[in-house]
Amino acid sequence: MTLNAAQQHQALPGVRHFLKDDDITPAQQAEILDLAAKMKADRHAHRPLAGPKSVAVVFEKPSTRTRLSFDVGIAELGGHSVVIDAQSTQLGRGESVADTARVLSRYVSAIVIRTFGDDRIAELAEPATVPVVNALTDGWHPCQLLADLQTIAEHRPLKGTSIAYLGDAAFNMGNSTVIASSLAGMHVRVGAPEGYQPAAEVLERAARINAATGGSVTVTADPVEAVAGADVVSTDAWVSMGMADSAKRFGELHAYQLNAGLLAHAADDAIVLHCLPAHRGEEITDECLDGPQSRVFDQAENRLHAQKALLAWLVKESQ
Ligand code: CP
Repeated sequence: MTLNAAQQHQALPGVRHFLKDDDITPAQQAEILDLAAKMKADRHAHRPLAGPKSVAVVFEKPSTRTRLSFDVGIAELGGHSVVIDAQSTQLGRGESVADTARVLSRYVSAIVIRTFGDDRIAELAEPATVPVVNALTDGWHPCQLLADLQTIAEHRPLKGTSIAYLGDAAFNMGNSTVIASSLAGMHVRVGAPEGYQPAAEVLERAARINAATGGSVTVTADPVEAVAGADVVSTDAWVSMGMADSAKRFGELHAYQLNAGLLAHAADDAIVLHCLPAHRGEEITDECLDGPQSRVFDQAENRLHAQKALLAWLVKESQ
């Protein structure tokens, strides 16, 4: 039987999306991180997108690292990237993300998108017949966490390592840190005040994962308790894109600033992470960001390698 064009582009049961950290299993996460390390060691040896296969990279919010690392990474994989600001497309005039996904699926081998609500990326992924990758939503930043885990793994084995996450843990970076680290069998200590702690649903998901991986999550409003003895200390901006209530947030979060005094409570060989962009003097001080324990710029570089591995894996798994 010959399929018509529409039938050929119905969603394949095997198409793999990466919308949140636990869309992959612990074993698949380890496989992607292993591939990322190989790609970093021999940067131009892997060309699974040769052809070239094209990838659409769509932004509904600003970006430096995500935009550049996907664009460069797709080229290094032998592919062709089409990087677009949504406002310059018909999305900016109200075309639905579902119709956009149906159209882009006819052109490209994967769709990467940075957008707002997780309902929006789910609406895009549902009719897409190619992998859809979350390049940051309000709820999740799973590509960042692959890079974070790659950076930690360069320092020490992931399983059993403790990571303190400070500040606003109720948003994308906090959620992804809790879930991705749990998948890796790590021990997460969230240091955040009430109102900034992960939602119960996120903690319940982490508990289910940790029952299998041996990881754990603890939540405390005491920043010293969160950091005490930690192998990794991570934080993010207190005011994310689109947030208006900055004065209130600064007042509630200032005790969670990652500074030398707080870092002194961590393990002697602890490393410092920040996904960037940083607001120096707010959530993190210069002495931590630029100090000998900082791995922040390795972390930024690893966006490139981790996302190359992710794209190669998703395209392979979706064939
Ligand atoms: N960390 C991160 O996602 O950086 P950009 O906003 O610059 O992409």
